[in-house]
Amino acid sequence: MWKKLNSEEIKSRVFNALKKNVDFEKSDIIGIPASYLDPKVFYQDAPFLKDAPYLTAMIQNPNHIGCHTLGDSERFFSGTQEIERELIEMCAVDILNGKPGEQDGYVASGGTEANIQAAWVYRNYFMREKKLSREHIALVCSADCHYSVAKAANLLGIGFAKVPVTADTRTISEQDVRTELSILKQNGVKAVIIVANMMTTMFGSVDDVHAYIAAVKSSGLDYKIHVDGAYGGFVYPFSGDDSDLDFSNPEVSSVVLDAHKMAQAPYGTGILLIRKGYMKYAMTEEASYVQGLDSTLIGSRSGANPIAVWMILSTYGPNGWREKIHMLMYRTQWMCQKLDELEISYYRHPRANIITIKSDQISEEIAQKYGLVPDNHASPSWYKIVVMDHVTIDKLEKLVEELKN
Ligand SMILES: Cc1ncc(COP(=O)(O)O)c(C=O)c1O
Repeated sequence: MWKKLNSEEIKSRVFNALKKNVDFEKSDIIGIPASYLDPKVFYQDAPFLKDAPYLTAMIQNPNHIGCHTLGDSERFFSGTQEIERELIEMCAVDILNGKPGEQDGYVASGGTEANIQAAWVYRNYFMREKKLSREHIALVCSADCHYSVAKAANLLGIGFAKVPVTADTRTISEQDVRTELSILKQNGVKAVIIVANMMTTMFGSVDDVHAYIAAVKSSGLDYKIHVDGAYGGFVYPFSGDDSDLDFSNPEVSSVVLDAHKMAQAPYGTGILLIRKGYMKYAMTEEASYVQGLDSTLIGSRSGANPIAVWMILSTYGPNGWREKIHMLMYRTQWMCQKLDELEISYYRHPRANIITIKSDQISEEIAQKYGLVPDNHASPSWYKIVVMDHVTIDKLEKLVEELKN
């Protein structure tokens, strides 16, 4: 699915898709509470727009309400919904090794929404199919998991347990998962939604999904496994060859990738990918005025966002993307070597572009100056460097010089 395209091909694809959407000015459509952006504020006819497909999409303002891999959707925006469907297929098949046509998905507001959506789907699945009540269901993740999972447990009114990680390796152990599961079981839990990390926010660490699988199978609890790749989804699949954290693993039911992090897409581009057959558990029948109803948490959402991500991936193509990630890995490796020479201790997963330095190894002043984000603003134990496009070796070298001094 995923091909490198030149800018003419990208422009032609996006402008043709926009032409298939409703034209609010020329058509007689008068019944939907949607229109192009206010022309007094946002110029509709600026000459540069003919070369700017994403900005044109923003100005035309398509609403991608609903999930477009499921069947019927709002007819007014069918042109750009097609691009979103293509994007979902590229992510699910080319990046996450799913089989063509076997995953649903949509571009959510971010990783938070996409994680909550997955948990919502599985909570409703256990309630509907297994006749469980909320008290029988819990979310389980590692201590390094993103706080959106805690939000999900709180919103959905289900249990929540964190598996500890070892201080230096940031890994979970099968034994610790067993312990947490047996406590949940004693408290009446019958089914768990496991969130495995494909790179954590603070450390870039990756969970051993087999530790979760082995422990949950022996616990006798019902389970579903969701992968949080909000941070790592556009890095980890490209920085190495093998992965158990994608659809090639039959135990994994869903994955989240955030394009607005490592793919440098506009905010509003968290991507939920889930095996077919599950989105129906989040279908809101009351959304009767929406063609195709709505199985998403968000409701109205910008159709320009999936276009932006599709354009980014199409500009690079799979090989170009791999090269981009390898350049980030090279810089990360360079920095780790310098830290080793300076005998500064840090954590780095070999496939990640995050380096997390112990707070006693670096002054607060230097951390502040270089914007190194702490794990905890009130009392930092760690500071992280995130190696991205703008984080060049020249910039890293400045930090190295200060650390030397
Ligand atoms: C691993 C992980 N999951 C989820 C999120 C939440 O993403 P967002 O801020 O887009 O809602 C983040 C954000 O940093 C993250 O790193």
